[in-house]
Amino acid sequence: MRNIVCLISGRGSNLDAILRRAREENWAQALDARVAGVISNRADAAGLQCARAAGVATRVIAHGDFAAREAFDAALAEAIDALDPALVVLAGFMRVLTPRFVDHYAGRLINIHPSLLPAFPGLHTHRQALAAGVKVHGCTVHFVSNEVDGGPIIAQAAVKVHAGDTEDSLAARVLAQEHRLLPRCVRWFCEGRIRLEAGHVVARGLDADAQSVLAA
Ligand code: GRF
Repeated sequence: MRNIVCLISGRGSNLDAILRRAREENWAQALDARVAGVISNRADAAGLQCARAAGVATRVIAHGDFAAREAFDAALAEAIDALDPALVVLAGFMRVLTPRFVDHYAGRLINIHPSLLPAFPGLHTHRQALAAGVKVHGCTVHFVSNEVDGGPIIAQAAVKVHAGDTEDSLAARVLAQEHRLLPRCVRWFCEGRIRLEAGHVVARGLDADAQSVLAA
């Protein structure tokens, strides 16, 4: 069985999308894969409830309990490795990870970011997009590298920016695409269709348009 471990910090809607897709598509049978555990760096993360409701083991490792980033990441890695992960998914995990952590999971650590990278790394991406006046915005799933929000891109979904969009209205349209894109990328990884090779994403057996989605 391929174990998927999801890291969250809050609401957990991306986690919920993965859990839902895993159930609907019966990943346990079809892919020999399952979400084996969910770890949050915040005890009050609502996403922990989604995990429990789905019968998935949860753990809280509060970053505030650690004096240094390295110590937090070491504890986090220990908890993840206890789950024998094939894939670690940053599903709304709002901590910058140390190089040691990132290197340990090279090629099996992916992140969802709410912008069309390399535009708008970091926080407040929808605000940044509106301020920049871009006409197309979206989300990106990428392998994690030591450059924050800078790793090799697996897939992107784009949405149009509408006249009169607010940060909230734009965020909602992007989020709907995140919920489609992230489970799809997790599935591809488990199917062995995408992998990281020498710093580049190699895709196999995906039709040409699969990795780019254009929404309304
Ligand atoms: C998402 O927009 C994700 O892309 C970003 O943080 C948000 C988390 O939302 N990294 P949720 O916790 O998955 O609902």
